Amino acid sequence: MCGIIGYTGGSQVLPKLFCGLESLEYRGYDSAGIAFYDTKAGMLCLKEKGRVSEIRTLAAGYERDMGRKIDAHCGIGHTRWATHGKPSDLNSHPHCTSDVSLVHNGIIENYAALREELSRRGYRFLSETDTEAAANLIDYYYKQTEDPISAIRAAIREIRGSYAFGILFHDRPSMIYAVRKDSPLILASGEDGNYIASDIPAILKYTDQYYRLEEGEIATVSPALITVYRDGGASFTPEYEKITWSVDAAEKEGFPHFMLKEIHEEPRAVRDTLSSVLSSDIEAFFAENEFDTINIVACGTAMHAGLIGKFMTEKLARIPVNVYIASEFRYQDPILGSRDLVILISQSGETADTIAALRLAKERGAHTLAVVNVIGSTVAREADRMILTLAGPEISVASTKAYSSQITVMYVISIKLAELRGRLSPGEANALLEELGSKVPAAIEEVIGQKEKIRLLAGEFLQCPSVFFIGRGLDCLLASEGSLKLKEITYIHSEAYAAGEMKHGTISLITDGTPVIALATDKKLFEKTLSNIKEVKTRGAKVILVCPDADHADPSVCDFRIGLPALNESYAPFTAIAALQLLAYYTAVLRGCDVDRPRNLAKSVTVE
Ligand code: AGP
Repeated sequence: MCGIIGYTGGSQVLPKLFCGLESLEYRGYDSAGIAFYDTKAGMLCLKEKGRVSEIRTLAAGYERDMGRKIDAHCGIGHTRWATHGKPSDLNSHPHCTSDVSLVHNGIIENYAALREELSRRGYRFLSETDTEAAANLIDYYYKQTEDPISAIRAAIREIRGSYAFGILFHDRPSMIYAVRKDSPLILASGEDGNYIASDIPAILKYTDQYYRLEEGEIATVSPALITVYRDGGASFTPEYEKITWSVDAAEKEGFPHFMLKEIHEEPRAVRDTLSSVLSSDIEAFFAENEFDTINIVACGTAMHAGLIGKFMTEKLARIPVNVYIASEFRYQDPILGSRDLVILISQSGETADTIAALRLAKERGAHTLAVVNVIGSTVAREADRMILTLAGPEISVASTKAYSSQITVMYVISIKLAELRGRLSPGEANALLEELGSKVPAAIEEVIGQKEKIRLLAGEFLQCPSVFFIGRGLDCLLASEGSLKLKEITYIHSEAYAAGEMKHGTISLITDGTPVIALATDKKLFEKTLSNIKEVKTRGAKVILVCPDADHADPSVCDFRIGLPALNESYAPFTAIAALQLLAYYTAVLRGCDVDRPRNLAKSVTVE
């Protein structure tokens, strides 16, 4: 997500913008910028790809060239996490027109249509971003109405998607305007002026009085007064809440750890990623290219997402898919050529093993498709094509919302390929995609709503030397990801096993009290999985059964149960993995582990 800060008041604005942006750096970003009203030079904008410190350098250079200090008391600032348009100076925010400067956090879904219409109205676009369409649209209506609020209202009626906007109108030098939908924005009242910000850390140094702007409310922020306008014209001065968070807690928006915050972001990550993939040209790409083999290459959790992609693509589209661990890919001496596709999945886009696999695939002449969460990353840049997961910055080392976003892409690819091959009708494909965009996020929310019940189960493993995850079909793939999550943040050894395979050796490890987490989300496999559960149960295992709520599990078979909301079984990975992530999280907290920065691990493994 991007970071927004704005200030207007009696103090110099630049120090506040820089300090506010630097307090948002933890969110991850690739470029930064500020726009402000200099009392002598008027409206100025300094922005570029890179760090906030480089904007400080730009400002110092401007003052040196002008032979004077900048004197400005009103401005806005932004740190960008690229979604539409690579990291570059031109794509950085603020986006400025002749009358308006604007910063944005969110995604404008209909930006292409808006750009087309605004081009017809004579606007020129300098960047590749969705945001510039909003700046030009507000500019267009401001020229029509000469009233900021009317212009904002008219513009947001045409914008589809999510936004938090901070806006300057150049002929109103001490005023900031703000409006939001689906992206957070707060207003804050300080002793020396007033602020807008995308979240609390940006203003915590200056004030503890804040107001969370509600959906559709428009705020006018002057040095002395903040006024909020609701549809229908009612306006009021906000009642401020007192911030009780520390800076550290504020960065996590009140959650104790980034991992828990990021699990809570999974429903949005799925919705945003789905919107991103469906607005990409992925369908045309697969329609225009018939591949002999599809190969998925990744590491860790990303590779586990690839396993879901394999399972669903083979199930729906009946196309064989190979999945490779990236670090092993080169040793397979893969048979690849121009009729083969290699999909590289990577949250960071900087994983050395995945980059090496990408380069080998290209050497062999294969098409390469990157599924990444960081738009300017090496994997994104070097692959022939890219699909961006819109999970937003994932800070915790343990990957959670990135996984949900990655499997969202995998599902879309499997559904689109099945439709292209006539194995799904357009109606069936659309129904599945509709379910993915609506029922799946809601079902994940329901699982998250059960977190207290799941937290109580965490105590069951604390002293265990080892935990087993078992399942069949999709559940067997989920077991691998659930096991990895538990291992990497709790340091408890665990193993994922095909439920039907336990009796061929590994069941010898089951003794009294051995925890076994059994995944049984597929009704057709329920009875068989149940018999495997009974096998371990009779040998003393303590069984936690993860299955749809409605499925009656014989209480004599499992010691505990995590009930999942009703959902198309094919989408069970979304809800089951959220439960397993929470189970791992609460176990790690109970064990006093460093949840967000587990020992020996890095967020991006940039060594082979
Ligand atoms: C997952 O929780 C781990 N942090 C790790 O397995 C990670 O998925 C793997 O290193 C791949 O990282 P990437 O997605 O950034 O390439």
